[in-house]
Amino acid sequence: MADLTTTYMGLPLRNPLLVGASPLTANVETIQQIEAMGAGAIVTPSLFEEQIQLERFEFDETLHREEARSAEMITVAPQVQHGGPKEHLFWVKKAKEAIGIPVIASLNAMTKATWLEYAKRLEDTGVDGLECNLFASPHNGQQPAESVESEQLELIHDLTQAVRIPLSVKLSYFYTNPLNVVHRMDEAGAAAFVLFNRLFDPEIDIEQEHSALAFTLSHEADHRLPLRYAGLLAGGLQADICSSTGIFSGTDIIRMILAGATTVQTVSSLMRHGLEHIPVMLQQLTEWMASHGYDSLSAFRGKLSHRNTRDPWVYTRAQYIKLLMDPEGFMAQSSERID
Ligand SMILES: Cc1cc2nc3c(=O)[nH]c(=O)nc-3n(C[C@H](O)[C@H](O)[C@H](O)COP(=O)(O)O)c2cc1C
Repeated sequence: MADLTTTYMGLPLRNPLLVGASPLTANVETIQQIEAMGAGAIVTPSLFEEQIQLERFEFDETLHREEARSAEMITVAPQVQHGGPKEHLFWVKKAKEAIGIPVIASLNAMTKATWLEYAKRLEDTGVDGLECNLFASPHNGQQPAESVESEQLELIHDLTQAVRIPLSVKLSYFYTNPLNVVHRMDEAGAAAFVLFNRLFDPEIDIEQEHSALAFTLSHEADHRLPLRYAGLLAGGLQADICSSTGIFSGTDIIRMILAGATTVQTVSSLMRHGLEHIPVMLQQLTEWMASHGYDSLSAFRGKLSHRNTRDPWVYTRAQYIKLLMDPEGFMAQSSERID
């Protein structure tokens, strides 16, 4: 029987499949089912700065003024009982007590003071790790990219000093050079990178002529962007890579580990197929390992990373070159045929 155990940000996991921050991890009954279905760990929904700053009675009104930043929160928060920070902290503590697999809390603050204060408060709930959800869509065209990145870097450095639990950083891909950002945060002490968050974008209702809230679940081929970055980063970091977005099957888990990821997170696959999909994905991973003669994840982790593959261009410009040199061969081998 293949050994699926791994270590993620220093935490021992029974397997590399995490259920990401989402409504799936927002109540005791579901997280107990997630554990029973076999997931390796969970990430609780983010505690957002707005939850912290707003009095409960102002919550809805202000949320809608802030919607460009907070669509992720707006979608999640009104349905849950833990709308304010006290309730959220209480919930996270309860989640930790309710299950035996590691529980990682998620925080998305705006000011450094809030980040530091609530990182400590979340740590005090007894969680195993903290995921910093760095999503904030830019709204100030005058602020240069370097200044945004320096602020985030300093924040990660200060957070790693402020808490004792391991800290992961969940990034969007909206950086000129995500590789550089990751390397600098790695040096600053991040224990893992969750690559990537899938952002909620605004929508407009043309009948009512007002802005609308919308989210779209990922699609199967969406794993390719995180695959690229897992492959490019693998072997060059102290921190672990947790691939996120578009993980729909055991095949996707295998792909990410071959590229060099330590773990994966999934949300959309379970929202589409139900929690019963967890054992299906794990079974696919186990069967593939058996059929390829691997008895542990480390036996094939990073085998096809940028550093290890015989075809390193695959992570950069291979498709373009192949398409130029051999258009018919490219179409014949197109990865759409793999799906
Ligand atoms: C309804 C919903 C709520 C989410 N809430 C959060 C959240 O609170 N914090 C966070 O970091 N990510 C949140 N996410 C993003 C997911 O954790 C995940 O990163 C994203 O959906 C990409 O993974 P997937 O392709 O497996 O869905 C949410 C996603 C969905 C669909």
